[in-house]
Amino acid sequence: MELQQLDRYAKALIKEAGRKIRHSLTYELVIESKADANDLVTNMDKEIEQFFIEHIRKDYVGHAILGEEGFGDDLQSLNGYVWMLDPIDGTMNFIHQQRNFAISLGIFKEGVGVFGYIYDVMNDELYSAQKGHGAYLNDEPIPVLESTTISKAIIGMNASWVVPNRYIENEGLIRLVKDVRGIRSYGSAALELAYVSTGRIDAYMSLRLSPWDVAGGVVIAEEVGAVATNLKGQPLKFLGQDTFIVARKSLHDSLLANYITMK
Ligand code: IPD
Ligand code: CA
Ligand code: CA
Repeated sequence: MELQQLDRYAKALIKEAGRKIRHSLTYELVIESKADANDLVTNMDKEIEQFFIEHIRKDYVGHAILGEEGFGDDLQSLNGYVWMLDPIDGTMNFIHQQRNFAISLGIFKEGVGVFGYIYDVMNDELYSAQKGHGAYLNDEPIPVLESTTISKAIIGMNASWVVPNRYIENEGLIRLVKDVRGIRSYGSAALELAYVSTGRIDAYMSLRLSPWDVAGGVVIAEEVGAVATNLKGQPLKFLGQDTFIVARKSLHDSLLANYITMK
């Protein structure tokens, strides 16, 4: 397979999907709830996933697709080529803010991320990477990340971890909030990965993400030297949900060792 052609194809699909999403903001969205009242989905989440799937099935026969809205394949393994797609990551922002959401896409081969894309639709900013070939923001190379310290770091995480909860020891996180320069929460895992990759924040953590949230972003983040694992420090499997951390290399181990204790 010609990889550069695959890359051009994926980018063209993403840009076309972005145009459709921007256009959709000129008319009324159909909004529904999924697992709970705050787990939202719109007609555009579904339409955009179907748009990708129709094209990929026609033009890359044999490639599997793992999509959040369930129109793709039900996969038990990552054999062959797998496209991991979140048509709109940050749906709550899409609905409430009409910004701060992204298309998130990773193309994996035999379980290894080959291409990663995060498209900030409203800012027309495409973050992309090919494994081993560096990362780009639109056509500009993204520099490799330099090291930093906890006291100078801005960390992306959900504020609810700092109060007692069922999943993670909150005392460690109270210390973290005191030790770091700042905490941020943007509401789109994909954009937070893009921000770690460009050094706007220094780490991002989550208690539960799915492969389509992070597949594209991990390829990009690793190209600039960031480290991504689950919160036990284990490699990501990209099948099923897991905890997640991505950080500058200089922060990753120290965040896990000194601040994170799962219950
Ligand atoms: C969500 C966003 C959010 C993260 C959630 C994800 P969605 O994705 O990435 O930032 O905290 O865990 O499910 O539902 O907007 O595609
Ligand atoms: Ca998502
Ligand atoms: Ca989504």
